[in-house]
Amino acid sequence: MSMNLVLMGLPGAGKGTQAQKIVEDFSIPHISTGDIFRAAMKNKTPMGIEAKKYIDKGELVPDEVTNGIVKERLAQDDTKDGFMLDGFPRNLNQADALDKMLAESGRHLDAVINIHVEPDVLVERLSGRFICRNCGATYHKIYNAPKVEGTCDVCGHHEFYQRDDDKPETVKNRLDVNIKLNTPLVDYYQKQGVLHEINGEQDIDKVYDDIKKVLTNLN
Ligand code: AP5
Ligand code: MG
Repeated sequence: MSMNLVLMGLPGAGKGTQAQKIVEDFSIPHISTGDIFRAAMKNKTPMGIEAKKYIDKGELVPDEVTNGIVKERLAQDDTKDGFMLDGFPRNLNQADALDKMLAESGRHLDAVINIHVEPDVLVERLSGRFICRNCGATYHKIYNAPKVEGTCDVCGHHEFYQRDDDKPETVKNRLDVNIKLNTPLVDYYQKQGVLHEINGEQDIDKVYDDIKKVLTNLN
């Protein structure tokens, strides 16, 4: 069974959180364009330095750059039996580019999961988020705290950080930018008949139950 997935949702909707769970049950590679950009920024590669100019303002990185990264990643062998894109595509140009990339290798999307959360909830989610410096696991100070305070559930390390783009000034623009782009993209995938709407305003485990139902019923 092939499982070529896209996880959609506004900043803070829970894409990364749910991706972590999906990967445990369905072993497909998790491809987050945001994670790829953050790794490149950390290593100060030319692409990372370029991307930082946009990410720090909450703007999208230009499509040529982003599409190129995804194309390269989807050409790798480990995506043959499935993949999960997180945060890509974000506009119609990227969606169209993705359809073409997949068609070139005889593939198509099996499902697009849109994690729906009203914007007013998202600011609080992003301001309370912290991330394990060692393994990247994502937490929230109220909604998803580690089981043992100060210790990562996944890898046991003790150092955490907050994302630079979770500062209040940047969050506002990130939300505005993404809200505008989200509706046309939802319509696009609705028309293709692959869209699944998930209520993202439930407990993390309940959201995952709903996603798992969709994924188990594919094919
Ligand atoms: P990216 O890293 O993808 O950021 P984003 O879209 O803003 O989304 P987030 O990662 O902030 O949120 P998430 O949905 O993963 O939520 P999470 O699970 O962490 O992109 C960053 C930047 O890179 C972009 O702004 C752009 O500049 C650039 N970029 C990336 N992709 C691009 C593209 N395709 N084109 C152009 N540029 C691109 O959860 C958030 C918090 O909420 C956590 O603390 C979590 O614990 C908590 N939480 C999660 N679920 C729940 C729940 N159900 N209830 C309560 N709390 C919850
Ligand atoms: Mg994320």
